[in-house]
Amino acid sequence: MATTYAVETVVLQHLKHQTDHLNDIDKDAFDCVSAIIEDEQEHHDHAFENFDQNSLMAKALIKVVSLCTEGVIRFGMR
Ligand SMILES: [Fe+2]
Repeated sequence: MATTYAVETVVLQHLKHQTDHLNDIDKDAFDCVSAIIEDEQEHHDHAFENFDQNSLMAKALIKVVSLCTEGVIRFGMR
């Protein structure tokens, strides 16, 4: 669940950034991304409640997975 939490945290940051830009430009796209945010927020919150946040292994895993997720997103945006 720490992995899911890490992925969802990064994904949510990017999706929320997108809605900031879409809000005044494309209402349909804004609504679509907003619906995705709701789903991803549920995944994020469920994951957060289901791992030991004090675990050193979880903390290390979150850092590695967050960096990898950020890299994949940036690569995908090229
Ligand atoms: Fe998800």
